[in-house]
Amino acid sequence: MRCAMSDRTPVRRFRSRDWFDAPHRSDMTALYLERFMNYGITADELRCGKPIIGIAQSGSDIAPCNRVHLRLADRIKAGIRDAGGIPMEFPVHPIFENCRRPTAALDRNLAYMGLVELLYGYPIDAVVLTTGCDKTTPSQIMAASTVDIPAIVQSGGPMLDGWHEGELVGSGTVIWRSRRKLAAGEITEEEFLQRAADSAPSDGHCNTMGTASTMNSVAEALGMSIPGNAMVPAPYRERGQMAYETGRRIVDMAYEDLRPSKILTRESFINAIKVVSALGGSSNAQPHIVAMARHAGVEIRPEDWMDHGYDVPLLVNMQPAGKYLSERFHRAGGVPAVMWELMQANQLTTDVLTVTGKTLGENLQGREASDREVIRRYDQPLMERAGFLVLKGNLFDFAIMKTSVISPDFRQRYLSEPGNEGVFEARAIVFDGSDDYHHRINDPSLNIDERCILVIRGSGPIGWPGSAEVVNMQPPDHLIQKGIMSLPTLGDGRQSGTSDSPSILNASPESAAGGGLAWLRTGDMVRIDLNKGECNALVDEAEIARRKAEGAPAFPESHSPWEELYREKTGQLRDGGVMDFALKYKQIAAKTPRH
Ligand code: FES
Ligand code: MG
Repeated sequence: MRCAMSDRTPVRRFRSRDWFDAPHRSDMTALYLERFMNYGITADELRCGKPIIGIAQSGSDIAPCNRVHLRLADRIKAGIRDAGGIPMEFPVHPIFENCRRPTAALDRNLAYMGLVELLYGYPIDAVVLTTGCDKTTPSQIMAASTVDIPAIVQSGGPMLDGWHEGELVGSGTVIWRSRRKLAAGEITEEEFLQRAADSAPSDGHCNTMGTASTMNSVAEALGMSIPGNAMVPAPYRERGQMAYETGRRIVDMAYEDLRPSKILTRESFINAIKVVSALGGSSNAQPHIVAMARHAGVEIRPEDWMDHGYDVPLLVNMQPAGKYLSERFHRAGGVPAVMWELMQANQLTTDVLTVTGKTLGENLQGREASDREVIRRYDQPLMERAGFLVLKGNLFDFAIMKTSVISPDFRQRYLSEPGNEGVFEARAIVFDGSDDYHHRINDPSLNIDERCILVIRGSGPIGWPGSAEVVNMQPPDHLIQKGIMSLPTLGDGRQSGTSDSPSILNASPESAAGGGLAWLRTGDMVRIDLNKGECNALVDEAEIARRKAEGAPAFPESHSPWEELYREKTGQLRDGGVMDFALKYKQIAAKTPRH
């Protein structure tokens, strides 16, 4: 057999050789080999022991945020070839945040399961995970963890900065802000559409610090991508170069047997939690980080968000918590510069291993920010204590509030009563799902005023199903016209990472799983104490018991097989919304599947 390959020796025999070079089973090997030769891979090459590198392709017409990967895959392949690997691109289940009904959250676990089977059941030695739109990042990292073959994240990158009439307009955030302008009568429907279109000027994922940017930044913070990978805009030359470098690097990782289990440690997850605070990152980071950690065998407890993340200041001036967008953030130094700042303040564990084969601390050398308008110094932040506040009480055991988007106006109205700072009471207006909210929010008989809290239930993993981004409810039009742009909100669903609403969300257990929101009634007073992390309905025990006996509100039936299975198997947002039964499968590539 001719073998034109490098002189490198892998740490152990690549698993793909069990398919293509199985001693005593030439019949089996022939069967595996023949079809791959159709597209230019030679039998010798497949048999001689080069690593086969999967490219998990998440882009397609149905997943436009990741569509750039269709083009980038050629650069990844060139890198893999040049480093002595064999590339094999294959599709993963697409996830498009804005378009998938009833919610894209349903598909994170579906894409996870699909990718696990692909990585396990085919002759793949290492994999490039092509990420972008929100759930495409955690789903693929979860799968790479379960299988535990060398894996590297290649983000597609964000869009270019969006501009409308000389003003920066960021994806998602422009929608929430324009909705309020529309309700206030400041813009027409047509202008609304134009502002949205202008916020999306190119290929790429959302250009705000929404869930997509947050999760790609988290992947980088975890050590799963080449430094700087998260924020290079999709159309930039550097994006293609990074794809090529990623392709080269994954081949080395295959030889080094550098697997996710060596990178994804409790320390690296705690680093990521701190980075999310400094970024003003999406509240969706909470379930996704917990999910990735659990699949990696790492425990992230509810207290970790307070113990490690809450006190970290907001350093990145980017929408929705700040002003700028990803293109400028990239030019300012991106995620490495934020982590450099955290490292100087002794906030990170820096001796953790990363995909570069070096430690995080080594990767961050010389990565100081170049634009202090966008990336602040640790001791001159945009806001102190910018992490997620964790709350509990008689309505739920766990919920979070993203403090970096609590506006000065909101603070003034609700959290500044002299002698009682951080505490407020509000009258609950309860909605059963978002249709109910849209039908009734402007109903005068509800008497909604600025001392109300808008509550939505039936929006969690079981109730929706999938857990919907609906908690960022806008006040009724009459309040917006008076200049009241946000009311306190609470719900068992999520909210968009691009939203600037100061909501209490991800409440677990959800009402459909027997959580306290099920017995809350419109008119009840709810007391929120941000200092103690408490949220309680002021309803006495006997009355609560009486209401519980009336049963929980109904939720819609399942409309597809996956919805039914998802509801049966998926846990609550506090616990990452993972399928618990899947957690017992770890490092499964160590066992070769039978022929
Ligand atoms: Fe896909 Fe925001 S909608 S990245
Ligand atoms: Mg979203």
